[in-house]
Amino acid sequence: MLIQPEAIRKKVRALGRRISEDYGTQTDAVVLIGILKGAMFFLADLARAITSPVEIELMSISSYGFSTRSSGVVRILKDLDVSITDRHVLIVEDIVDTGLTLSYLLCKLRARHPKSLRVCTLLDKPARRSVDVSIAYSGFTVPDEFVVGYGLDFNQQYRNLPFIGVLKPECYGVDESGGERGEQVCRDKVAGRFATGEAATGGGDG
Ligand code: IMP
Ligand code: MG
Repeated sequence: MLIQPEAIRKKVRALGRRISEDYGTQTDAVVLIGILKGAMFFLADLARAITSPVEIELMSISSYGFSTRSSGVVRILKDLDVSITDRHVLIVEDIVDTGLTLSYLLCKLRARHPKSLRVCTLLDKPARRSVDVSIAYSGFTVPDEFVVGYGLDFNQQYRNLPFIGVLKPECYGVDESGGERGEQVCRDKVAGRFATGEAATGGGDG
């Protein structure tokens, strides 16, 4: 599975158009809340694809830490700089996986009484959903595989890949005793694989 840069660009433009249509009639700007760090590239591109007025805010939330599995422990590391009370708010996420991060965030933000609160995610991995979250705008549905690139990381790496690709399971350590040496081997493997563009086929859902 691979989503090429051009497919990402097209999708982001389409999402931007839909969001502009939906919020265009509002007189006040919509507050886009990008969730760091994964959504940074998506937010930057999406914001420029929206023609209606926006304000940009960033939040940082802990989710995975050093693992590819959701711990269920979610913490706000960086909060908003402004009040969202009575504002139209659109959360911009990289990926919705179990949904735990998002449901926590939605609960926190709802308590601040925004005028509206919606979610826009680039990727949706519905196979792993453990809590029900409503997603207003979604880019691509992805299979139950660990993806990296275009903001998404594994151990903070691969965010700068201009495409989205799958990380091989052996690279996120099913072997818990793998340690640093195993890590390095995997890093080389994935880096090599991505550099040559092998093993990645297919595309998103349009
Ligand atoms: P959730 O709470 O399980 O929905 O996890 C959401 C967060 O986990 C996302 O915002 C990502 O930061 C991270 N995440 C989930 N799946 C992936 C993946 O396949 N690749 C990279 N990060 C992921
Ligand atoms: Mg994230």
